[in-house]
Parts: sequence; structure tokens; C-alpha cells
Amino acid sequence: MSSKHDIPDGLNEEYYQISQSILGSFNKYRPPLNIFSFKEDVARVMPYYKVGGRLTNEQIEQLAELTDQGLIFVSRADHPVYVKHISYQLDLVLVDKNLKEKEIADIFAQALTRRLAEFFDQPVPAVFDKLWVDLMVLTEYLYQDIRRSRALVRRLHTEHSLENHSLNCGFLGIGLWSKIKDKGFSEGVKRKTFDRVVAGLFLHDMGMAKVPAFIRDKTKPLTGDERTKVNTHTKTGFEMLNKLNLRYPEVEQCVTEHHERINGTGYPMKSVKQEFAGRLCGIADSFCAMITKRPYAEAKTMMQAAQELAGDARYDREMTKALQSFLVMDMKMKP
Ligand SMILES: [Fe+2]
Ligand SMILES: [Fe+2]
Repeated sequence: MSSKHDIPDGLNEEYYQISQSILGSFNKYRPPLNIFSFKEDVARVMPYYKVGGRLTNEQIEQLAELTDQGLIFVSRADHPVYVKHISYQLDLVLVDKNLKEKEIADIFAQALTRRLAEFFDQPVPAVFDKLWVDLMVLTEYLYQDIRRSRALVRRLHTEHSLENHSLNCGFLGIGLWSKIKDKGFSEGVKRKTFDRVVAGLFLHDMGMAKVPAFIRDKTKPLTGDERTKVNTHTKTGFEMLNKLNLRYPEVEQCVTEHHERINGTGYPMKSVKQEFAGRLCGIADSFCAMITKRPYAEAKTMMQAAQELAGDARYDREMTKALQSFLVMDMKMKP
């Protein structure tokens, strides 16, 4: 929001100017965080409302007016409360011009991890629809400027869980794709294709939701029977897509092909024909498994994982090279 008032430059480092759309999303009488107003006569930000209090109707009206004038702020120290609040109404990130890129990345990470967990817990259409809506907010945001995916890749989870892994694959897969396409992303990739591949990256392991949790979360090596159960997750995932009426080839490729390998050593088909989305997702999947601690291996650094994949003939060489250069050039990691 451009203010009609003279707001000192340094203020935005400590405070966050709040817009009408965000203010309107709070509880009217009891906002969840402290609110400050800028007093022009003393050129300072002063407390307006303290959590625990209650605003009167007159104050609510005044607050709306002051917000319109760009004089209402919240403290960046309240970042966690703020992130949590917006993560429940994700579309606000598209309309609010005051959020910084890294704040938006925090909000997406939190919102999507929670939506994924809810869906894996209850893989039914009603829960899926909410996840889908939020995924489409993400694609809308990224399609405007694909370089925004870098802040997302800085926020990968380090602990393993199905939802954390799924989020990681989504974020990393998008970052890698931005590098593969490099310049002119939105000219080269249709919005529809973008939406579907992105969804596929996040949903690739949805079949794992049907694998009993005690197998999924087992910290010891799997028995033969358990391994067989786990290996059916690509097929189960495909069946789930049908039930959800999600019949997009790109999503199907992510779900069914992410364990295939280009030299025919993967599963379930041992097919050498892996489509683009399947290859991209396969690399994101292996990479994200390698960088979190697993029962049988310590976590690798991102550079180690990328290096290992680049020397592995089972993966698309061009893509694994792009992954290395993405980490070094775009993420500024030491090779
Ligand atoms: Fe998988
Ligand atoms: Fe996976």
C-alpha cells in the first residue's frame, strides 16, 4: 500500500504495514496480535491494541480508516502468529503487497504441510479440495515469477514424514524445473501444464497414505512383505487419482513413474519410457529422501545428494546437471 503519509524508511524493518484485506481477516474485536498506529506528530509507532483486550465499535471504525491511510502496523516480532493466521487463508498472500518474499515462503510451507498432512490422514475428496485450492494459490504466485521458488527451496523440512517429504518434493521440483527451463519460464510453460506438474510433485506419494503407518514410519529395515506393500504405493496412488477424478497426464506421470528409472531399473513397470514429469519427480523424490535422515542412512547435504545423483546413470543427466547448477548458481551453495 502506498501511504499518503510520511512513513520513515526504517520502519518497515521492524513493523509490517497492514492492509485492509488482512485486517478484515482478523477477529474484529479481538485481533490475534498487537496492533500499532503511526503517530505523525511524534513520527513514531505507538501501541493501538494489545492482545487480550477488546476493540470497541468506534475503535474498529477508526482502525479501518487508519488502515486505509496506511498508518496501521503489526510488529515483525509477531511473525509466527502472523504466518499461522495467513496460512489458514492462503489467498491473502496474493493480494497483500507488504509481505516479504521470505514471509510468503514461510506461509506456504506451513499452510501446505498442514493441508498435505490433513489429506494423507483423510484421503477423501472434501479434504483434497482444500489442498487443491491452496496448491493453485501457490502456482498462481509462482507463475508470476518463477524465481520466487528459491525462497521455497530454502525452507525444506529436515525431519522425515510423509507430509514433509511431499512438501520438499514439491518445492525442490519447482526450483529444479525453473533451472531446466531457465529463461522465459512462463513463455515456455503453459499455466495448465505448470499447475498439473506442480500438483503431481506434491501428490506423487499419495498412495503411501494407504500403507499402514507402522510400516511407513518404521525406523528399522523393512521385511520383504512390508517392502512389497510399500512398493504398491504408485499403483494405489493411481487408483486414488481416479477416485478423486484427477485425470491429468502430468499428475499421473508423477504418481506412477517417480520410481521408474531411465535405464529400466525402477518399478513398477521397469519401463525405460519416463515422461518429463516422471523424470523430474523421480529426481526430486530421490534427492529429498537423501537429504533427510532415514533409518538406513544419515542425511546428506544438498550438494552431496546432487553430486551423487549426477553420477548415477539411472537419472536424466541433463536434469541432474541442472540440479547441481541450480544449487550452486541460484541457491549459492558451495560445490
Ligand atoms: Fe514414492
Ligand atoms: Fe517420494
